[in-house]
Amino acid sequence: MKNIDPTTTGTWQKLSRLAKDHKTLQIKELFQDESRFSDFSIQFEDLLVDYSKNRMNKEIFSTLIGLAEECGLEKAIQAMFSGEKINGTEGRAVLHTALRNRSNSPVYMDGKDVMPEVNAVLAQMKAFSDQISNGSWKGYTGKSIKYLVNIGIGGSDLGPVMVTEALKPYQNPNLEVFFVSNVDGTHISETLKKVDPETTLFFIASKTFTTQETMTNAHTARSWFLENAKDKSAIAKHFVALSTNAKAVAEFGIDTRNMFEFWDWVGGRYSLWSAIGLPIACAIGFENFEKLLEGAHSMDQHFKHAAFGENIPVILALIGIWNTNFLGASSEAILPYDQYLHRFAAYFQQGNMESNGKYVSRNGEKVSYSTGPIIWGEPGTNGQHAFYQLIHQGTHLIPCDFIAPAISHNPIGDHHVKLLSNFFAQTEALMYGKSLEEVKAEMTRAGKSTEEIEKIAVHRVFEGNRPTNSILVKYITPYTLGQLIAMYEHKIFVQGVIWNIYSFDQWGVELGKILANAILPELIGEEEVKSHDSSTNGLINAYKRFRK
Ligand code: F6P
Repeated sequence: MKNIDPTTTGTWQKLSRLAKDHKTLQIKELFQDESRFSDFSIQFEDLLVDYSKNRMNKEIFSTLIGLAEECGLEKAIQAMFSGEKINGTEGRAVLHTALRNRSNSPVYMDGKDVMPEVNAVLAQMKAFSDQISNGSWKGYTGKSIKYLVNIGIGGSDLGPVMVTEALKPYQNPNLEVFFVSNVDGTHISETLKKVDPETTLFFIASKTFTTQETMTNAHTARSWFLENAKDKSAIAKHFVALSTNAKAVAEFGIDTRNMFEFWDWVGGRYSLWSAIGLPIACAIGFENFEKLLEGAHSMDQHFKHAAFGENIPVILALIGIWNTNFLGASSEAILPYDQYLHRFAAYFQQGNMESNGKYVSRNGEKVSYSTGPIIWGEPGTNGQHAFYQLIHQGTHLIPCDFIAPAISHNPIGDHHVKLLSNFFAQTEALMYGKSLEEVKAEMTRAGKSTEEIEKIAVHRVFEGNRPTNSILVKYITPYTLGQLIAMYEHKIFVQGVIWNIYSFDQWGVELGKILANAILPELIGEEEVKSHDSSTNGLINAYKRFRK
């Protein structure tokens, strides 16, 4: 991969000039061009991505494409797909695309084709999930499994949670799925109240099999199970491991025949396509899991082959760079108008922020420009009644992605048209806003006094000109969900390439873990703690007083 400070490129400098020259560029005025929508939207299979409501004219767009070229994006894409070790700080390849490589063409890593082992684990997942789905996998008292409990955190939790929630309409009605992630004992306690040891299957999901939260919850689940089953040999029927660490899995007491393997070239936040996806496959059936992989594969092919100017993940990434680095946005909202997608933003909070929340470049130097934005969001229309006020009238520029399915899984009454009318209205409102003249005329028509109009009108003005992307999907199916997820994954990758950072490590989460481990023994006794700064000492000692 090229190692270029993007700010030194001619295109970046040109973009800086364009940002200054077009400070007053109004999105709504760009629509005087009748072909604005057709020029600035792409339909790919059942996915329509409309990026026309951005503060970006044709010159800005083509310069952004030039930036991607100048930063060596084409070679970077090839490097990722072909198994080069682009995760430079950990010396690892990044091959989540191989996990969903439905063409089955060879993918070489260190000269070895990884596809046979990918396929072998998929076959193991199919055999297992089929037995769970059809009830032939029996617990220690001979009953079929009813409850699936995934114990994992971060990438070993968020992906499976998000996908099983998003695909609930496809879920096997004989199964209930639970996710335990937090080390807070409340999470596992509340879950164990709802399940029955005779019919519960625990997935211990951890790439490393050392994560404190997961191992603590896993041990608690095992003790709870053994209190009931009273027989260690029963563990084999109720615990499976999803991990890269066979040794630690065996030490925990899970039969390695019940281990579903993946590899260090699968990043945690890109792992739902791997064995980490086993609870998904059990919940929605393996055929649907395969469709999820197929959807992602179709987006991979689009990303790999489409010209940058017609390439959805590339375009979304470049628009994000324009908003972040040239228009000064520091966050992005993901707003799905689909209740089933209620964990989608949370999923990409990790996907994006753990990948691109870095201030050191691939040169090892501190960057002089912004990198990954803050990602947040909630489903519409709930968000409209909570935080949209700030998006419309706040002082921060918040580019938003609006996502909606054209067809609902629950077509009752007029719910869906009402939902979609809001989806369409919001991006229009954010673009047009409402001028002082319009507000005054409206208030006059409503019979308000001149005094009231003078006092209130200004508060009812919307500046507008707020950038949005709209992503309209025909229907949320396993296939289209796979496409959507892969689309955002590749967007994040493209931005990491251009920002010249390593998107596939996460050193930033380590320090807190180390300090927590150092503090843990200090919390055991009653003696006063003096080893930290006065704030940390004060807090720890107050905790010790409070708990008495
Ligand atoms: O702490 C961050 C992290 O390493 C994530 O990247 C990862 O998804 C999560 O922890 C869980 O890690 P593991 O799967 O190894 O338990």
